[in-house]
Amino acid sequence: MSFTTRPLSELLGVEISGLDLATPPDEASFARIKSLFEANSLVVFRDQRFTPQQHIDFSRRFGELEIHVQHHFHLAGHQEILIVSNETREDGKPLGLADAGRYWHSDLSYKAEPSLGSLLHAQTLPPVEGDTLFVSMAAAYDALDDATKAQIEGLTAVHDYSARNVAQQAKSSLRPGLTADQAKTVPPVTHPVVRIHPATGRKALFVNEGFTTHINELERPQSDALLRRLFEHMIQPQFQYRHRWQAHDLVFWDNRATIHLATGCPPHLARTLYRTTVKGDRPIGPQDRAAA
Ligand code: SIN
Repeated sequence: MSFTTRPLSELLGVEISGLDLATPPDEASFARIKSLFEANSLVVFRDQRFTPQQHIDFSRRFGELEIHVQHHFHLAGHQEILIVSNETREDGKPLGLADAGRYWHSDLSYKAEPSLGSLLHAQTLPPVEGDTLFVSMAAAYDALDDATKAQIEGLTAVHDYSARNVAQQAKSSLRPGLTADQAKTVPPVTHPVVRIHPATGRKALFVNEGFTTHINELERPQSDALLRRLFEHMIQPQFQYRHRWQAHDLVFWDNRATIHLATGCPPHLARTLYRTTVKGDRPIGPQDRAAA
């Protein structure tokens, strides 16, 4: 299968055109897509008109799929799809997670084995706004000064979904609380602050404003100060790519190498996307490498 590619920014992102994913890519095309994904951290497939099942089938080729803890927002009949939406159903209840990603985060970094990547498919887009911003966490790491690199090399941080959910509930009545059983499935977890990408071997920052609560090895004030400094550093415009959605885009990003932020749109403008999330592996840091 032939398709054309075009870089989307200097640091991350490549656009793929001329490929219809409703027909499963052959092995050679799939291998090319996978290596574009790993090298560029984000791939945009234009004009994909496939069904939810075809979306799931394509996603599964990258690994097992996650079932999101917010069960109310699964697509009916397709629990692998999380609905990201500001629309409401006929009964007035939210159709999907309305405030999904309205803070910088890496999907599922709060799990012991965080997501490899997410595939978000545009269903309904607002005529203006609604962009998604992505950051290259490898570029952000590379740009740190040597003293900071040495300081964070062996540190680990806690990531916690429940803490984020409580914070979001305080901001939005559309965000449901977790049941006790759901909360048990997302206990706080610890990950290295610097992560080595399993495919490319590149070092990247692996903390995010969304889910990282503190650094284990530091007292709380020092931890807060360091995290604040890293958060400010990594979201600088030179590390970002802004995705301006086009109809039927499928965007596939690497959660091991990026963070992202949904910039939002006025509430009267409908915005709905379907997301699958591919399972990943336990993050490895320089300290794990040294111990191995
Ligand atoms: C997400 O974080 O998965 C949603 C991103 C978006 O809605 O742009």
